Amino acid sequence: MHPARLGPYLIDRKIGAGGMGNVYLGRHDVTGQIAAIKELPAALAREEGFVLRFNREIEAMRKMNSPHIVKLYESGSDDAETYYYSMEYVDGETLSGRLRRERRIPWKEAVQLCLQICSGLKHAHDEGIVHRDLKPSNLLLDKNGTIKLTDFGVAQVFAAGRLTFTGAIIGTAEYMAPEQVDGRRTDRRSDLYSLGAVLYTMLVGRPPFSGGTAAEIMQKQRFGQFDAPRKFDSEIPSWLDDIVCQLLEKDPERRLPDAFVLSKRLQELLKKMELKHSTDESRSLSESGTRLDLAAAPRRFFDAILMRDLVKSQISSDEPETFFGRISNNIWVLVGMLLLVLGSVVWLWPTERSLDRDPPIVRSGQQSEADRIVQMARIRWKGGDAAGAQYLLKNLRAVIVSDADQFHFVRNIDRLLASIRNHRGTYQRAFIRTALDRAHRMMLEEREKADGIWRGIIQLYRDDSSLQDLVDEARSQLATLPTRSEEGEHSSIPAPW
Ligand SMILES: Nc1ncnc2c1ncn2[C@@H]1O[C@H](COP(=O)(O)OP(=O)(O)OP(=O)(O)O)[C@@H](O)[C@H]1O
Ligand SMILES: [Mg+2]
Repeated sequence: MHPARLGPYLIDRKIGAGGMGNVYLGRHDVTGQIAAIKELPAALAREEGFVLRFNREIEAMRKMNSPHIVKLYESGSDDAETYYYSMEYVDGETLSGRLRRERRIPWKEAVQLCLQICSGLKHAHDEGIVHRDLKPSNLLLDKNGTIKLTDFGVAQVFAAGRLTFTGAIIGTAEYMAPEQVDGRRTDRRSDLYSLGAVLYTMLVGRPPFSGGTAAEIMQKQRFGQFDAPRKFDSEIPSWLDDIVCQLLEKDPERRLPDAFVLSKRLQELLKKMELKHSTDESRSLSESGTRLDLAAAPRRFFDAILMRDLVKSQISSDEPETFFGRISNNIWVLVGMLLLVLGSVVWLWPTERSLDRDPPIVRSGQQSEADRIVQMARIRWKGGDAAGAQYLLKNLRAVIVSDADQFHFVRNIDRLLASIRNHRGTYQRAFIRTALDRAHRMMLEEREKADGIWRGIIQLYRDDSSLQDLVDEARSQLATLPTRSEEGEHSSIPAPW
């Protein structure tokens, strides 16, 4: 049984139920406006401070006006026990409903939906409102494919209440940012984390972290690692993988800073993929030669050529033919020119794979400052100066890490740093080990020479932290010689600089 009326609304039917109460479809008895009306349970209304928080949040929500945020109409109470608020009725389904039916959403559509959510989120954040409970059931899809965010600020209304930790809102744990789990301060970046989890769910078909209990999921939000979406579907571009992973960073500082930057990154991704797609197509066209399979061409193609030829012949019958006219009349010359243009795009465009493999050295024919530093680091590394290469890369990283547009570049720097770390000292260690063993064999018969080896090792490698164990070994051997100290010997071999 549903109530016949809530405030001025005549209730038609119940359309849903959530952790906080029932949602009804109703009509305003004076204006006739259709609305979704959410009734809050009486137990909540009795909670201390609830009414104050409720009114404050409702006021904030009323300020928002975006096509991607469910519009709040009004709020009220029928008696001291029944609180409700009415909002725009979205004729469609929730994102969770769609995911239940289809499990996953193709990546391009997921990106388009995410762009719409970004638009709503940016608007709210600009108004100083953080959602705090962004999840598929709070995203409503209408029949035209528009997505709208709902329940803004509701989490805040209930945040201080004891009901927050009842089973009622346990589902939210899957989309909760680590700082929220920890009870630390939340801000717009917490919403970006939740949006990352929503995007992940759309791409993969399940949230990044799941578990038997809310506590288990929350623990994973804080410390767990998830598999990148591309692991489940190789169609997902690695650029999108990067964006999702950056949204799901545990540390808010490492996330994309806001919804606007996220939307720019998503738009850029779509453009890059479009270009990649067209260059792939032109590549396969050039691979099969300039031969066009006219038999396979769609009929409209011929219609267009025919129409063009008719118009042209009409014009050219009145004009003497020029050299360029002759060229442009030749379809094969035009196809050749098109291939030439596309070919140069393929040549100049750094492919996704090449970006993944190496930091780009030359971009658009101009060597950027960051490229130059990476190249210097590579030269140093190849020359055996791993410490110098790390020094350059770490400083470069520090300079560009806060620039969201450089995310790919930073990732490649991290990869390079990891390879240097993994290989660092491999050759040096073998070299030092051999010398130490030689010194050990000599120390009884030819002390002077052994002494020289240890001192040389200390001098050469004392600043390299990855080789400290070997340097310490040389030091302790040197200390067994009663007559000379390490420092005393420093001066006997002058440094070349
Ligand atoms: N503005 C609306 N227009 C149309 N249907 C709505 C609207 N708001 C809510 N609903 C429906 O009511 C259902 C319950 O929504 P409600 O927000 O109460 O629960 P929930 O989002 O699933 O969980 P939670 O209580 O954690 O927010 C939704 O799943 C949706 O089907
Ligand atoms: Mg909801």
